[in-house]
Parts: sequence; structure tokens; C-alpha cells
Amino acid sequence: MHWTNDLIFLCMLDKYLISMHNARMSHAQRARTSSDVCFVRAYAKINLTLDVLGRRADGYHDLATVMQTVDLYDTICLTATEDSQVQLACTKPELSNGDNLVVQAAHLVRQRLAIRQGVLIELHKHIPMAAGLGGGSSDAAAVILALQQWWRLHLSHSDLLDMATSLGSDVPFFLTGGLALCEGRGERVTALAPYWPRSMRWLLLLKPAISISTAAVFRNLPASDYSDDTHSRAVSRALNAGQTPQLEDLHNSFERSVLGRYPEVARAKGDLLQVGAPFVRLSGTGPTLFAPFSELANAQKVQEQLQSQGYEVYLSRAIHPKMVDVNVY
Ligand code: C5P
Repeated sequence: MHWTNDLIFLCMLDKYLISMHNARMSHAQRARTSSDVCFVRAYAKINLTLDVLGRRADGYHDLATVMQTVDLYDTICLTATEDSQVQLACTKPELSNGDNLVVQAAHLVRQRLAIRQGVLIELHKHIPMAAGLGGGSSDAAAVILALQQWWRLHLSHSDLLDMATSLGSDVPFFLTGGLALCEGRGERVTALAPYWPRSMRWLLLLKPAISISTAAVFRNLPASDYSDDTHSRAVSRALNAGQTPQLEDLHNSFERSVLGRYPEVARAKGDLLQVGAPFVRLSGTGPTLFAPFSELANAQKVQEQLQSQGYEVYLSRAIHPKMVDVNVY
């Protein structure tokens, strides 16, 4: 197979180059210099809008949502192994199992191209889990993209999209990230012009100390909270035209029911507003809330006050990831 020959050739070439280098390098340097290793970052997202349009016959819901990647990220290290296994070591032990989407993503890529090369996935989590920030989905997309680049795989955009969609509704967005309108289950991704309003330059992400199951939030959403796609379209139009969207269009269909069902989230939103956040919205199905700020000093002051109250708060900003985030050593 073409790719296999490529890979063997690369490994041979790498071994030759490494042995040349090693003669002149310390042991510590040698350990870091191997192209059998690939690092990639997986960024979180926030939902600027999230319109749930209605329930579909297949049990999923049709959505219109404007998503933006932010610079809170997990780090993934892929190492080639001698066997033909996919193994995972994660800084959160509860995620170190075969159900993790990164393991499923690696299996999917290997199955699609009948690849037997083994891989160890080391996953350094920074993005809070089950938080509405897309961490698991982003990790999965990052593994697909990293394997494609590292192993020089011939995968078309539709191959990538198929695999991503089968892993989860948010995964296709993370194949490109940046700013996008996502429709259907979430898999119909339309990139928007990379404009971000000055008034939202800094983002505080507050993660209340609970985890929320996405499926449960969808299940508990009353039809009276469904909306049409007006908000998401208005925000997409404004951003594409380089204009700041209207605050009332930053709508999340889940916010009313999540605040009603989870008092910790309602309390956190109240506390954010109380200490000076000008605007607060739920991200995805929650429980994370985001608050935009135009000035770093204000964002930092609010962050410090909330941290002193015991809240988990991240100071972040919108980011447009590039393929260079994959580093092959
Ligand atoms: O696609 P994903 O596996 O991330 O979705 C998790 C759960 O969220 C689904 O099993 C479904 O219950 C719900 N969901 C939905 N409609 C969507 C996305 C997710 O009902 N568009």
C-alpha cells in the first residue's frame, strides 16, 4: 500500500537522521527528537448562539449554532508503537478508557485505510469535561487531523467529514474550527469571515462545579423553548459584515431550562453579573457560562473576584487554529 511504503520510508529516513544527530546530542535532547512522535493542540469552543429548531425522527435535534474556538486547549501526544494497538494515557484517569473519543477516532482512521501501525495517545486535559466547551469532540477531531498529517494519509474532505460526523455532532466543526455557523445535527458547517468584535476581545469562561449530560439536557428541553434560526442567521450576517451582533441575538435555547434545573448554574450567572460582567450566556448545553469583556483589566478583576469565591474561571480569547498546530518531531 502506498501510505505504508511512505511510512516505512519515513521511519527509515528518520532513524538514519536521528542516529546522525544522536552522535552530537545529549541524552535529554535525544529523547525529544524523534519523528515517531506528533503533538497537536485541541481547542475548546463557545456557542455564541444555539437555536434548537426541533426534534427529528432519528432522535437528534436540528440546530443552528454559531461556534467559535477559544484558546483553552488540551494537548495530545501521539507516539508510534511496535504493536498494532491503540492505547490511551490521560491526565484524568476517568477518561483513560476505550470509550474515549480519541481512541475511537484513531480506530476509525486505521480501519478506513486498513492501517496496522500501533499508536499511544497521551492526552493532557485542560478543557473541563462535560462542560459545554466541546473538549471531547475537539480531541477527536485533533486526532483525525494529526494522523492525517503525521502519516500523510490520502483522506478527502468528505472522508474526514464522514468520520467526524460518526464520532459526534460537534466533531465536524473542529475539523476547521475558527468561527462557523453549524446546522443540521451540527455537521453542516459554514465558515464565517474571521471577525471578532472588540467588545468581546476577552472571554471569561466560568465552569460551575457540576457536569451535565448533553443527552439529558436535550431530553429535558420543552418544545416551548425551541426557536427558529433567526438569531443564528442574524449573528452570522453581522459577523460576516464585520459588525457587532445585537446582544439579544446571542440566544441559547437551553439557557432557560438549564438555569431552572441546575441552581448552581443560575447562582453562577447571578454572581458573574453581580461582580461586573456586562453580559453572560450559557455555552452549548452547559454548565459553562461565558462573559465577554473589551478590556483585559476588567476581565481579570472579575476573574479574581470569582476565583476568591471558589469558582473555576478561565480567561480566554477567540482563536483561529491553523494546521501548524500539528508538530511532528
Ligand atoms: O452527537 P453527540 O453524540 O455529541 O450527541 C450526544 C447526545 O446529544 C445525542 O445522543 C442526542 O441525545 C443529543 N443531541 C441531539 N441533537 C443534536 C446533537 C446531540 O439530540 N443535534
